Amino acid sequence: MANHKQPPASLLFIFGGSGDLNYRKLSPALYNLFIDEWMPEKFGIVGIGRSKYNDEDYRKRLLDGIQQFSRRKGEPNGHWDDFSRHVSYLQMDAENDADYQKIADIVKNKEAEFGEHPNVIFYLSVAPQLMPDIAKKLGALNICSDTKSTRIVIEKPFGHDLKSAHELNKSLTSMFDEEQIYRIDHYLGKETVQNILALRFANALFEPIWNRNYIEHVQVTVAETVGVEGRGGYYENSGALRDMVQNHILQLICMIAMEAPVSFEANEIRNKKVDVLNAIRKINREEAHQYAVRGQYSEGWMKGEKVPGYKQEKSVNPDSPVDTFAAVKFYIDNWRWQDVPFYVRTGKRMNQKTSIITIQFRPAPNFAFPPEAAETWRSNRLTISIQPEMDIRLRFQAKRPGQSVTLNPVDMIFSYDQAFDGHEPEAYETLLLDVMEGNATLFMRADQVEAAWKIIMPILDAWETRPPVDFPNYAPDSWGPEDAEALIARDGHNWVTLPQAPPAQ
Ligand code: BG6
Repeated sequence: MANHKQPPASLLFIFGGSGDLNYRKLSPALYNLFIDEWMPEKFGIVGIGRSKYNDEDYRKRLLDGIQQFSRRKGEPNGHWDDFSRHVSYLQMDAENDADYQKIADIVKNKEAEFGEHPNVIFYLSVAPQLMPDIAKKLGALNICSDTKSTRIVIEKPFGHDLKSAHELNKSLTSMFDEEQIYRIDHYLGKETVQNILALRFANALFEPIWNRNYIEHVQVTVAETVGVEGRGGYYENSGALRDMVQNHILQLICMIAMEAPVSFEANEIRNKKVDVLNAIRKINREEAHQYAVRGQYSEGWMKGEKVPGYKQEKSVNPDSPVDTFAAVKFYIDNWRWQDVPFYVRTGKRMNQKTSIITIQFRPAPNFAFPPEAAETWRSNRLTISIQPEMDIRLRFQAKRPGQSVTLNPVDMIFSYDQAFDGHEPEAYETLLLDVMEGNATLFMRADQVEAAWKIIMPILDAWETRPPVDFPNYAPDSWGPEDAEALIARDGHNWVTLPQAPPAQ
């Protein structure tokens, strides 16, 4: 018996059950929830796909994914048999109306087996163009009108632009109530991202200085060393701005910039976030080049290994204009943030895998120390490392020990590994548990998604009307194109990176 309250009986249908996301993320997450006794006492997981599997082969495939990608990989694995008994596979054609009756039959059978009506959760991890049709066909099943226990989870990308996102919202809300719809942004499930609210609102120290009077600018870097990893087909219709900025990075900005919520109720938090999105300045298409920089990686070398350029990747058009890097300067037009720039950058094939948020404070108003003391003087800075390092560091000045006065920046560091036992759940564990519990706080509401699209549409439009002339424009293992340096240097700042740990011997 678990020593915490488990969610009510749940039946999960995963569309895209034979796909990559389920293999790498969802199944390992569900299995870890099971090991940690967070799965309901009564549950079933049904993978849905076109590929042919019997239950046993399907379970074998999932186990293979778990052994490669679970945060517990390598640990002794004694729970699999118990867990896998709950897993089955349903081969069906999601475009065929008649096949949906099979889902209704499974629900009925499980209801009889559990002796109660379970939460019925449909997880859509499929190509975005299939979503409206699947939602419509599901909506026709009478189980979907049960607004309290039937839920639908929508994986990203949520639309391709504002118009398609709006259409998708319309078709979802014609079948389901908003409270049944869980739009995933997996960054919101990360421990370090959730902790931003604790840092800001559970401490009295930061909030009084968390504004334009004390903060000079904010930076967000989400850099990856990988290329598009065989996802060329998807990426050709996306690009870095759509893939990372429209969702994950704008959500990080919301966490940094939102006003204090009066409660942790889902809609209260989401209202505060949507206020930030609505206050982000909408730039004109004509001035997009002053605010946004795009890049695409060339072939080259990555830590001693030869790697192809984006245009040479599988399923990529050899003349592709798609961005694999984007940097944008945002402004939030409200009392707290007026005129404070928020610089963000993200890219593939960058020098380090790192996601960090930097809060750069203004310099001390008066500097009384002799000039020679100040050679290494720097303003205060708070750096929140989201991944792979998980820490928060506050930089301040100290006097170097010795007879002369020399100031030196030092870091005060809170490290998750040192403070806690280092077994943080993965984002998908948190989010799947929230869906089973019916807690929508960490999910995107319809208006949030559309507000985020509105912000980036002028940049997308500008980029689409003016194809890039210099692609590829950055080498692998770099920090992106020169223009990204110029974007921030023009304002007298520079991008912050953390010192790298030396490679393990
Ligand atoms: C996904 C993007 O949403 O996030 C991928 O589609 C990207 O392109 C991934 O690699 C990054 O996620 P994480 O959790 O590894 O930072």
